[in-house]
Amino acid sequence: MASPPDGAKGPTTSSNGQAQKPQKSYAFPRSDHTPLAAGLRLGHTFLEGVGEGLWNVWNNAVECVWRPGEPYPHDLSGKVCIVTGGNAGIGFATARALARRGAHVVLACRDRERAREAAEAIARTPPLPGCCGTPSPSPSSPPAPPPPLSVEALPLDLGRMDSVRAFAADWRRGGRRLDLIVCNAGVMAPLQRTLTEDGLEVQFQVNFLSHWLLANQLLQIEHERTAATHRDGSKSGPGSGSGSGSSPSRPGTRVVFVSSVVHRAGPLQWGDLLSESSYEPYITYGGSKLATLIAAKELQRRFDRHPELRRSDTAVAIHPGIARTALATAFFKDYGAAWAQGQPALQPLVRMWHAFMDTAGQAFLATTDQTSARMLDACLGESSELAGGYLAMGRVYAPDQAAEDPTRAEQLWAVASRLTGYTPPPSLS
Ligand SMILES: NC(=O)c1ccc[n+]([C@@H]2O[C@H](COP(=O)([O-])OP(=O)(O)OC[C@H]3O[C@@H](n4cnc5c(N)ncnc54)[C@H](OP(=O)(O)O)[C@@H]3O)[C@@H](O)[C@H]2O)c1
Repeated sequence: MASPPDGAKGPTTSSNGQAQKPQKSYAFPRSDHTPLAAGLRLGHTFLEGVGEGLWNVWNNAVECVWRPGEPYPHDLSGKVCIVTGGNAGIGFATARALARRGAHVVLACRDRERAREAAEAIARTPPLPGCCGTPSPSPSSPPAPPPPLSVEALPLDLGRMDSVRAFAADWRRGGRRLDLIVCNAGVMAPLQRTLTEDGLEVQFQVNFLSHWLLANQLLQIEHERTAATHRDGSKSGPGSGSGSGSSPSRPGTRVVFVSSVVHRAGPLQWGDLLSESSYEPYITYGGSKLATLIAAKELQRRFDRHPELRRSDTAVAIHPGIARTALATAFFKDYGAAWAQGQPALQPLVRMWHAFMDTAGQAFLATTDQTSARMLDACLGESSELAGGYLAMGRVYAPDQAAEDPTRAEQLWAVASRLTGYTPPPSLS
């Protein structure tokens, strides 16, 4: 049984408009695990990562001679998808893959300029043949110029709960349908404990808590919107549904939570979710990613309690792969060389490690296109196969047992509700 997350007592520092400066670093978290059990858990996580790195080397070598075709050549015209952190890395590749299939994609990002550039880059990408109203290529018809893909950028800073609430309020005012939320944005293992403007540990808030708040609020809005549409007996757009899930034809909303293989380290952090008594970057990241995985499973349990939502809404978690992104590269460079911090004599070794990561080390990482193909499994795969599941290595995978514990999930919901001040409506209870 999980020990209660009594460490999540809430903000201890007032907001001053800046991320708070770190206080503690590199201490093993208080946990009910013996050193041997903790060592085995970390060893398991490490070995799974190494195995995946070798799998990436193989895949990258294969792709030098053979490129797989595009998966899911579905036409998503009329669908509306939100991707948090869609301006970079895995989020960008996923947003582009969805837009290429005709979906309208909203990049929910904290930096206006980076988001605008990403939206422009996606809009210029050619659609997948056969999607977005483009005909499949045929030798007899000359190619028509492709239309720009449908994408926009909206502000969302997951380090600030008021930004999450403002995003949801704007969404409600817009009255738009919502088919898919990809809770992707993330922060990994800053070497020192860092607080958000809300005074919470940054990984816990950005990776889990703000996504929990965002997903719950947007689902509530979508359920209320479809219920109102049903009551009015009118349709507000293609496939907008005919009630708060009261019809099996309601298309429903899918929530994809981006977790990580590192969730297996998460139970070590469970007694102190905000890392108030100690901070170890990797384990705190694992705690936030375990919380994210639990969120997918618990949300699906809640959908399943309501027959109309069970038929329509889906929650799924995914480890997208160890990929060549700013997050992963910075992690391997910084965390991998943290032992040499402040020791001038060791800096040549650190430079060699960085040079390795910039060159040959990249072979151990997946490309963002490879990860976006896996993300499409989570976004577009069959609900019946995915609901409440965890995807990794391109298939449904067994997560850590801690992710399956409904008592731990209830505790997490209580902590999240207290820290955000948000109580999910009866339809999500
Ligand atoms: N790469 C991997 O190997 C790997 C493995 C397992 C899981 N993941 C997970 O995959 C997800 C995407 O990571 P990535 O590798 O694609 O990293 P990335 O390229 O660094 O992208 C991270 C995204 O998150 C955004 N973000 C960070 N803090 C934010 C905040 N406060 N509010 C809004 N957005 C914020 C970033 O925005 P800015 O551009 O403004 O910083 C960026 O768009 C993360 O959840 C990560 O934990 C990655």
